[in-house]
Amino acid sequence: MEFQNLIYESSGAIAVVTINRPKVLNALNKAVLQELDQAFAAIAEMREIAVVIVTGAGEKSFVAGADIAEMSAYGIAEARAFSRLGQQVFNRIEELPQPVIAAVNGYALGGGCELAMACDFRIAAQNARFGQPEVSLGVIAGFGGTQRLPRLVGRGMAAQLLYSGDMIGSDEALRIGLVNKVVAAEALMDEAKAIAGRIAAAGPLSVIASKAALREGSNMDLKRALAYERELFAAGFATADQKEGMAAFLQKRKANFQGR
Ligand code: CAA
Repeated sequence: MEFQNLIYESSGAIAVVTINRPKVLNALNKAVLQELDQAFAAIAEMREIAVVIVTGAGEKSFVAGADIAEMSAYGIAEARAFSRLGQQVFNRIEELPQPVIAAVNGYALGGGCELAMACDFRIAAQNARFGQPEVSLGVIAGFGGTQRLPRLVGRGMAAQLLYSGDMIGSDEALRIGLVNKVVAAEALMDEAKAIAGRIAAAGPLSVIASKAALREGSNMDLKRALAYERELFAAGFATADQKEGMAAFLQKRKANFQGR
């Protein structure tokens, strides 16, 4: 796939999507959001891709937010449409069947923090910085930040970050559960790919069902969520991968999953 503002690469079952506007620290304008939408719509159909890694071009920034130059002239209607577009793209990432890992290589501010939060989990370089600085621009987070941040780090910490616009470093992000792991900047992609490789080696249908249960269940009450989990668990027993996975365990060999 060819894009103006993204780089799409794949190796085996792992795809890497790099946001590529390093001169503006990979800020998200409409064109980038539309390309992200196209890229993730296409990846959703790629059975051969098991995991996606999202990162930013250059050493300084993952994504430094929505493009302030583009937004500065917006009126209410354009702002609403821009928010809708960003929310739609990030929902698409969240709803992608395959897991998505954010490899956060520097600033993840505003829309960048929101993009990282729409991913399944986040691995950060030591130099990563997170924040929702929209209040310092006279607006609020508009790509899901007011909703995904409290769900990830709790309401109190989200309130502090959303109201103050404070930036936090990678160690604080780790402490509050915003990221799963912090590594040296030069080790970031290797670490993300190593985790992606372990996910890609698991039963692909099981990974997809685990993501669906986690995502859909978090929007249900516990009783309905457990019923949903039960149905997905039971459906797994109609797959060849279940037969292979359990036979391989009993025969003390490595499973060879076919994704069916
Ligand atoms: N939009 C547009 N351009 C941006 C940008 C953004 N979000 N962030 C950085 N840039 C541009 C800068 O304007 C600058 O361009 P020029 O070289 O043409 O001047 C270039 O990227 C490099 O940036 P700096 O010179 O500012 O780099 P720095 O190292 O001094 O500072 C920074 C880095 C702290 C990240 C600073 O760039 C910054 O504060 N950026 C804005 C962060 C922000 O407020 N993000 C939230 C945006 S609003 C949003 O995202 C709304 C939403 O939820 C939908």
